[in-house]
Amino acid sequence: MLLFFLFFLLCHFPIGTTILAPMKIAVVSGYGSLEPEMQIQLQNSLKWFQSSFLVEKSKTPVEIQDIYQRIPEYQKFSSILVQTPIHRQNMKFQDLKTLLEIADFTVFVVAQDPKKCQRDPDLLAEALPIVLVPDERPPLAMMSICLQNNPRHQNPSLDSRFFYDLFRHEILHGLGYGLIIDKSSITHKPSEKYIWNHSNGLGQPENRHFLDFDTFALEFTKKHFSCEKMKGVEADGERKNHLNEYIFGNELMTTHLEATGNIFSWISVGIIERTFNGPNQWYHINRTFISTEADQYSYGKKFGCDFLQKSCHDFIKITEKRSPTLNIAPFCSKNHNHMCYRIPSSEKLYKMSDKDCEMRRVIGAGIDKGGEQRRCPMIKHFPAKFEFFSCPPPPGG
Ligand SMILES: *[C@@H]1O[C@H](CO)[C@@H](O)[C@H](O)[C@H]1NC(C)=O
Ligand SMILES: *[C@@H]1O[C@H](CO)[C@@H](O)[C@H](O)[C@H]1NC(C)=O
Ligand SMILES: [Zn+2]
Repeated sequence: MLLFFLFFLLCHFPIGTTILAPMKIAVVSGYGSLEPEMQIQLQNSLKWFQSSFLVEKSKTPVEIQDIYQRIPEYQKFSSILVQTPIHRQNMKFQDLKTLLEIADFTVFVVAQDPKKCQRDPDLLAEALPIVLVPDERPPLAMMSICLQNNPRHQNPSLDSRFFYDLFRHEILHGLGYGLIIDKSSITHKPSEKYIWNHSNGLGQPENRHFLDFDTFALEFTKKHFSCEKMKGVEADGERKNHLNEYIFGNELMTTHLEATGNIFSWISVGIIERTFNGPNQWYHINRTFISTEADQYSYGKKFGCDFLQKSCHDFIKITEKRSPTLNIAPFCSKNHNHMCYRIPSSEKLYKMSDKDCEMRRVIGAGIDKGGEQRRCPMIKHFPAKFEFFSCPPPPGG
């Protein structure tokens, strides 16, 4: 029974009446291995899922017939590659039965759509959850990868950690993040209209959309942004699949991944834990394990309601006047002129006043209905990680 050793032997932790255990996860492919560094990062992402997610064992095992029915292209494969957090192994398709009995969640790599990948060069991968029993967590997902859009082909120096974030992002979708709809509508929030004031003072009507399943996340999000009247967790657009890129920056579940790494924050912890239909929570996150990463999330910290509800131009003007000590990097502010920053663990100090501003398109905003592009003054070449403080007085001065 080789299969048993594909997974760690795991102990079980009772919480109330349910028994939660680390989620046993596997990725199955009929298309062989990915490029080596991609495959390694896929494996690392699976390790991360198994360490962060606790689930209850499903009472209804997945059958081979379910695979044939829901992922028809797997009818043609006689052998498959199985990747788990600790092993990679080729096996006969028939042996999949045992794997499906053991695994809590299995992702099937499916063929990419070359036309779709070509149309959108930014499209790297897509994943979809497959629910088999209504109101139960999806035991399966499909994932397609646009190999031709591999950003490393353009930029060979890109850190392979990028793929780790890519697979974490996609498999989170596979588990339902942003893709499962709240059937009860309990957490659904209506979209709202507002005016985005441009730098020339012209106002542009815009829509704000909110993610479903934000009841757990909202408390933390309010505190993070220091905005008690925050209505909901702003989504990328009408489809409500992601966190809004403009508001949430380098969070893992925004629309764009950063070359410098993305963070799975307490906001996403709250969203995925509340992502369930029916009476029972599907996913529990191991807080001990996740806190090292989640505590690092600092984008937009204490920016306040003006950041969430107004344009960047209004936000910058208001904070320049009312909050002289607030650090609003990466946005430009006159208040930064007396500030310095340092890359963590480096001694060298940089003066903010030496940094230029540039007008940059705010990604992910205004994409709805081909909305006009919105631009914001951002600090040029600003590092993603920095320590910010008042500049020390000049020596001898
Ligand atoms: C949660 O994570 C911590 C740190 O990795 C680990 O020691 C602990 O056993 C995990 N708890 C569960 C219930 O898996
Ligand atoms: C946009 O600008 C107008 C005029 O300066 C101002 O009254 C209004 O409050 C601004 N809108 C927002 C959402 O801040
Ligand atoms: Zn996505």
